[in-house]
Amino acid sequence: MTDLITNFECPEHGEYNGVTKIFCGLELKPICPECQKEFDKKQLEIDKDDEARRQVLRLEAEARERERLYSEMNIGEKFWQESFETFKAYTSVLKKHLETCMSFANKPKGRMLLMLGGNGNGKNHLAVSILKKTGGCIYSVFEIELMLKKCYAVKEGESELYERLCNIQTLVINEIGKHKVGEWELNFLSHIINKRYENLMPTILISNTHLKENCPTKGCKDCFQRLLGNDVLSRIVETGEIMQFNEKDYRYLKREL
Ligand SMILES: Nc1ncnc2c1ncn2[C@@H]1O[C@H](COP(=O)(O)OP(=O)(O)OP(=O)(O)O)[C@@H](O)[C@H]1O
Ligand SMILES: [Mg+2]
Ligand SMILES: [Zn+2]
Ligand SMILES: [Zn+2]
Repeated sequence: MTDLITNFECPEHGEYNGVTKIFCGLELKPICPECQKEFDKKQLEIDKDDEARRQVLRLEAEARERERLYSEMNIGEKFWQESFETFKAYTSVLKKHLETCMSFANKPKGRMLLMLGGNGNGKNHLAVSILKKTGGCIYSVFEIELMLKKCYAVKEGESELYERLCNIQTLVINEIGKHKVGEWELNFLSHIINKRYENLMPTILISNTHLKENCPTKGCKDCFQRLLGNDVLSRIVETGEIMQFNEKDYRYLKREL
């Protein structure tokens, strides 16, 4: 192999020096150094573009997977972006509730939570934030009743549903007391709560009602104890916490701001 230093002319960048390689009888003209630089720069940009595109595709795939999971958990789209991070603890009570929920999410085993209070107080927001950490499902009492109704058509459908609800990682039962529930359905719910309690499965109960001891109305039908009885409450007191929410409706607050 012989090297020859020669002058070359690039149509773009003009004259340049280079070494012609003669290899196996072939003359290999050197590339213009400026052209090489441009080529390298372009290649780098293509690589960067590719990486950015791959990153976008990866993020999109992750978001799709998350949304699929949230749908399975029965988390409404309204809460897909919500978490402990997006919860504003603007009073000392809310701050304490947020801490309780975060602690629950870190160590859910064998714990129960009861969230009581008015509309738009962030009960669902916090319960969903817990679910996103622990895994599990959220169902309203109405949805459980609907599932039960569907089960009647299937042989041993109720016991299958019972098993499934007992074995969900963290189960949130929402809207307890929103409407009147039949005795059998109420029994079904109590048994699930009790079974989960015995198996140390974390359970969260949400209701717009209040505790009997905070109620001035004699014979009031909206006291929580009237809905699920003292045995459920006693288990909550033992293994968890009763959180009372008394803030202004956040839905209205958002509008005012
Ligand atoms: N402290 C808060 N910080 C941020 N967002 C909040 C807060 N409280 C409520 N929200 C938002 O306000 C809306 C209503 O809250 P949420 O559904 O959790 O209320 P709720 O207590 O379950 O009410 P309801 O009893 O009417 O079902 C949601 O979009 C929620 O994300
Ligand atoms: Mg709610
Ligand atoms: Zn050139
Ligand atoms: Zn009452």
